[in-house]
Amino acid sequence: MCGIIGYIGREEKASDMIMEGLAKLEYRGYDSAGIALATPSGILVEKTKGKLVNLADHLAQIGFPKGYAGIGHTRWATHGEPSDINAHPHWSQNHDVVVVHNGIIENYMQLRQELLQNGDTFLSETDTEIIPHIIAQYYEKDRDPVRAISQAISRMRGSYALGIMFADRPGELYAARKDSPLVVGLGRHENYIASDIPAVLSHTRDVYFLEDYDIAILDTEQIRIVDRAGHSVSRDVFHVTWDVAAAEKGGFPHFMLKEIHEQPHVVRETLNSRLLDDVDAPKMEDLGISKEVLDGLKRIYMVACGTSYHAAMVGKYLIERVARLSTIVETASEFRYRDPIIDEKTLVIVVSQSGETADTLAALRMSKQAGAKVLGIVNVVGSSISREADYVFYTWAGPEIAVASTKAYSCQLAAMYLLTAHFAMLRGKMTPEEFHELKGDLIGLPAKIGEILNQEEEIKKIVDAVDPLNVFYVGRGLDYYTGMEGSLKLKEIAYLHSEAYAAGELKHGPIAMIEPGTLVIGIVTQKSLVEKTISNLKEVKARGAQVLCIATEDVDPSLMDGVADERIIIPAGNWMFTSLLANIPQQLIAYYMSVKKGYDVDKPRNLAKSVTVE
Ligand code: G6P
Repeated sequence: MCGIIGYIGREEKASDMIMEGLAKLEYRGYDSAGIALATPSGILVEKTKGKLVNLADHLAQIGFPKGYAGIGHTRWATHGEPSDINAHPHWSQNHDVVVVHNGIIENYMQLRQELLQNGDTFLSETDTEIIPHIIAQYYEKDRDPVRAISQAISRMRGSYALGIMFADRPGELYAARKDSPLVVGLGRHENYIASDIPAVLSHTRDVYFLEDYDIAILDTEQIRIVDRAGHSVSRDVFHVTWDVAAAEKGGFPHFMLKEIHEQPHVVRETLNSRLLDDVDAPKMEDLGISKEVLDGLKRIYMVACGTSYHAAMVGKYLIERVARLSTIVETASEFRYRDPIIDEKTLVIVVSQSGETADTLAALRMSKQAGAKVLGIVNVVGSSISREADYVFYTWAGPEIAVASTKAYSCQLAAMYLLTAHFAMLRGKMTPEEFHELKGDLIGLPAKIGEILNQEEEIKKIVDAVDPLNVFYVGRGLDYYTGMEGSLKLKEIAYLHSEAYAAGELKHGPIAMIEPGTLVIGIVTQKSLVEKTISNLKEVKARGAQVLCIATEDVDPSLMDGVADERIIIPAGNWMFTSLLANIPQQLIAYYMSVKKGYDVDKPRNLAKSVTVE
């Protein structure tokens, strides 16, 4: 995700401190960077696409001053491709307010429209640029910066961590946040703001964690924190004891675990990007798929690799079952070489976290050439697939650093749920009332993910107690696809042989492999299939397998008695969405198995995060 650093101090070294802080944020991944510096004659802003070294070279070339106060940003593109112009900081209309922003402003189109009608002009395609414009609008009225910030944020829906400077207040820095982390660092005659502790750790270990709707006012000597109404609030100083490596991981031992824990937040971001409070249909106009387009389709292909392929499997199941549209899923490496039937009546949906996977990109190009329209479900804005697809549905997972995909998968599933509802509504298979109910279930998902994450200790204990020779993941319906993802994760990072099987297929071969030392993980979340799956689990139990059930809380526990050696119970709910929830324990199982075996969790052997060659 994007990174923020801000510095204000008595010594003339602000731009050096900001560049140093930005370098500490590089590990998070970014595509452009920028800096704003307070000077007596106004704020200077410089920004460049690409690596930080580009910005450093540029600053050196133009003789950028050091200054006493400034803010910096590394951008991970969301709205608008990576470019100099879209990089932060962004200005207000009259250059009197400058802002850096992490997060997503959901109602920015509407706010932008209002500002345009007021005569404002915009330079970038970002959602961020409206923020300084709105703050400036209020600031002009009474020159009260806190009131201006607070009025501006009351207009914005979404998530934000903000660093703000006012041209006529070079001795102050401002910060605000909601749903995006921001810390304020305490120094001696200098103070900081940062999206992440590593950015300030070499200068201070004492920080405030801002809470939602806090506004912080910093000068060289003091930090004041106020609430939305402008009343002072007190926050405890947190003394950071982590080293830099741990701090980069947000205090988690590995990026993978950090990313697993980010899931409630990022799934909410993906959902919020397409849900409106008062509208009972997902917001999908930009995807170019109208009722006429859908009715004219002869077929839908979903094409992807690895974890993204599993998200496509779930998508296919839901689109067929709920929207009644026949959909074929294929791994990109097969699809591209088998001469599939593609024409202008074909919709090809490519799914990719990185947007760079060579096989998926080749499938996209081949499909376009044959006349099909291509929709990309992509995480990385500005990636090749996002640029070449006709339409893009962005998942807002932020940069995923661990090779094994976790949060990006959950966001892909959230995208599949929304796409299914969109298709179903266009085809008259889902009413606005039904969507309304579904929307409630979707909005409840992040909290349920959180409940499962609270069981982390128990899941770790289960993993510590088993030492299987091989593992089978079994389930029926959506639970089968969930098992496929669980099995892949275990192979990827714990190097343990595992296979996913449709529970009903066990008897056609794999059951011959079952013996003591085999662990069978049964996924049991689909109400109409519970008893069938449990019967299959009984068969493996009778042949000496150890059985672990991942079941929803509405499964009658007595059905699992005598079958499950261990059970992980997850919240019940809409049958579609338990596919996302049941995968969370699987991520933790793979993670703790890898940790137990002492493997390199974040960089497993022989694997690459982004496979850009065949
Ligand atoms: C690699 C990664 C996997 C990922 C797959 C597809 O194999 O290690 O985690 O699922 O590529 O990547 P994509 O970026 O296209 O989703």
